Amino acid sequence: MKIIILGAPGAGKGTQAELISKSLSIPIIATGNIIREAIKNNDELGKIAKAFVDLGKLVSDDIIIEIIENRLQKEDCKGGFILDGFPRTIPQAQALDSIKIEIDKVLNIKVTDDEIIKRMSGRRVCEKCGSSYHLEFKHPLVENLCDNCQGALIQRKDDHPDTVKERLKVYHQQTEPLKDYYIKQGKFIEIQGQNDVSKTTELIFEKLGLQYDNS
Ligand code: AP5
Repeated sequence: MKIIILGAPGAGKGTQAELISKSLSIPIIATGNIIREAIKNNDELGKIAKAFVDLGKLVSDDIIIEIIENRLQKEDCKGGFILDGFPRTIPQAQALDSIKIEIDKVLNIKVTDDEIIKRMSGRRVCEKCGSSYHLEFKHPLVENLCDNCQGALIQRKDDHPDTVKERLKVYHQQTEPLKDYYIKQGKFIEIQGQNDVSKTTELIFEKLGLQYDNS
């Protein structure tokens, strides 16, 4: 299955992508994680992207499109994938269509701006693999350590409240129009994000027509 997950910053895209990925054994391609890794390594992409990310702005379409086009050619994407954080603009969606990869479903996770601001302040991420946790809603098994790779959990710089407000503004202006784009293609499904990770997952699996094993 080839899935796009849409939603405002902090809507739970990364959290749900991890659960779907485990269940379907397909990779997650998260542009935010790719960019953060590049910033950490201070490589060419990282140097360009850092200022945009720190201000809550989008990195330019041509850079992101090239990254995704290359990534989707890799062998592990042949059996399906989850796109988290891409596309984020209409030109990015058009670029994806132009490389003739047929997306099956576009899932939108709906969460109010007030709830987003609450969630972002409690988010902690693994500095090694990028997995997402929350001080209140999603604890790791061992305090401050990632369940997947035992990396340290840190707060993202762009989770500062002013940057979150800017990211929400950018989301409403540039990313929300994608809903209509995919409604017209007949691929759009939407769920209301719940204040509970597994309830949200249940709704998503139901919409995708999949069995959810919560054990
Ligand atoms: P990116 O990393 O993609 O950030 P984002 O879209 O703003 O999304 P987040 O990762 O912040 O949130 P999420 O929806 O994954 O939520 P999460 O699961 O962590 O992008 C970062 C930056 O990179 C962008 O600002 C931009 O500069 C650049 N960029 C990336 N892609 C780009 C592109 N295509 N084009 C141009 N620029 C690009 O959940 C959030 C928190 O809530 C967590 O703590 C989690 O544990 C908790 N939580 C999750 N679900 C629930 C629930 N149901 N109930 C309670 N808490 C929950």
